[in-house]
Amino acid sequence: MNKNSNRIAPAKGTLGVLLPGMGAVTSTFIAGVALAKKNQGRLIGSLTQMQTIRLGKRYEHRAPLIKDFVPLTSIENLVFGGWDLFPDNMYEAAMKAGVLEPRHLEPIRRELESIVPMTAVWDKTYLKNLKATHFKKGATKRNLAQQIMDDIVAFKHRSGVERLVMLWCGSTEILPQDSPVHKSLAAFEKGLDSNHPAIPPSMIYTYAALKMGIPYANGAPNLSADTPAMVELAEKTGTPIMGKDFKTGQTLMKTTISPMLKARMLALRGWYSTNILGNRDGEVLDDPGSFKTKEKSKMSVLDSILEPKLYPQLYGKYHHKVRIDYYPPRGDAKEGWDNIDIAGWLDMPMQIKINFLCRDSILAAPIVLDLVLFMDLAKRAGLKGIQEWLSFYFKSPQCRADLGPEHDIFIQHLKLKNTLRLLMGEEVLDHSGLDYYDQAKGLPAPAAAAKPLAKGKSR
Ligand SMILES: NC(=O)c1ccc[n+]([C@@H]2O[C@H](COP(=O)([O-])OP(=O)(O)OC[C@H]3O[C@@H](n4cnc5c(N)ncnc54)[C@H](O)[C@@H]3O)[C@@H](O)[C@H]2O)c1
Repeated sequence: MNKNSNRIAPAKGTLGVLLPGMGAVTSTFIAGVALAKKNQGRLIGSLTQMQTIRLGKRYEHRAPLIKDFVPLTSIENLVFGGWDLFPDNMYEAAMKAGVLEPRHLEPIRRELESIVPMTAVWDKTYLKNLKATHFKKGATKRNLAQQIMDDIVAFKHRSGVERLVMLWCGSTEILPQDSPVHKSLAAFEKGLDSNHPAIPPSMIYTYAALKMGIPYANGAPNLSADTPAMVELAEKTGTPIMGKDFKTGQTLMKTTISPMLKARMLALRGWYSTNILGNRDGEVLDDPGSFKTKEKSKMSVLDSILEPKLYPQLYGKYHHKVRIDYYPPRGDAKEGWDNIDIAGWLDMPMQIKINFLCRDSILAAPIVLDLVLFMDLAKRAGLKGIQEWLSFYFKSPQCRADLGPEHDIFIQHLKLKNTLRLLMGEEVLDHSGLDYYDQAKGLPAPAAAAKPLAKGKSR
């Protein structure tokens, strides 16, 4: 334990995890945690549970697990709640989603059945393809926000949790019109009173969370917290915010492959991506309005990584196309194809083909767990406003208005780990490694450095 870690409030008691949207991702996440608690499942894909973090010089051989290095809440201490447009409990939702099999769900059936969604805030103009049956009524959007806050108070009371976080796992909404109502907190609050049409349901949840100082993350491409009004509120109430849109299948591939193309100065001529998926998310995205929101989120990554303005010859004129087709037989087992046309030495053309047979919610669930734990850590560490260090998890990372988002997964990963090092008072790593070869500085010679020290000795 070092002096900086003392500035982080301890993870005392239980953490309430509030999830607007309790469908495939949410039920897969909750089921995974419940199984892991019984030692009946491994939380593969989660950095907080499985990854180590190197500290200091390579010859120091210090690489604790992240969860042993930073004071995170244990999965034993998570309590779940949330809202949905349908009344299914988490067992029914998981069975309908069809991500996990009965052999996963039966051992934890009682626990899953006990988690029942609260009534949701709904506006059909923002979600055309779902017919909700489980929603609140309220004369104004202000009143609906108040009802969400009342739900949160009641949940806290019922569950006895010490702290709370909120993570949007609801459907992809149609993007609202750009409006002055998003530009300041005062305008937004007036909009809540006047039922302004540019305030979608997801923003009502965001407002409720931020008003109560509850960290908020957004797993969908909805605007939610990504407006000046919500940033202002987050700053005012000292609350961490982050988003948008979990980086799972195809965008994970894109933000992994494209940094390699740029690092090796290979040209890009075209990138054609198509997906088939058959879950409820796919059904929602079959509506052109919701698809447009998703498309915007998926399209922006290449330009930001390849920087066509700096490299017009290599990346000034490539063709980028993204398609998502709803195809019910596949359920959650999505299939994505990428055809990448590249060019090398003397403009000779080459191709890369990717066929990713992934499982959407299996890739999203560990992201949910990590975000829950890291946003709680951020709050306890006194961080507020946009948490760009968590860009690693998002397709459209939220960042300061005058900065472009960082999409390169390797830079995002380094940023995340360096932020953890900073929070704990450890040296930030730049990986230059020049000093390993600088004997003049009196560093240990390679042979001596390679040998672990005898017990009780120090360098
Ligand atoms: N699974 C992935 O890999 C992945 C990746 C990136 C983003 N996402 C996003 O995560 C979200 C969840 O995905 P999913 O596969 O679980 O979808 P899903 O359709 O199974 O679940 C979403 C749930 O949200 C509910 N909902 C919609 N609007 C709501 C509201 N206003 N209040 C409360 N509940 C509401 C729906 O009824 C539904 O049960 C989607 O927006 C999806 O686009 C998922």
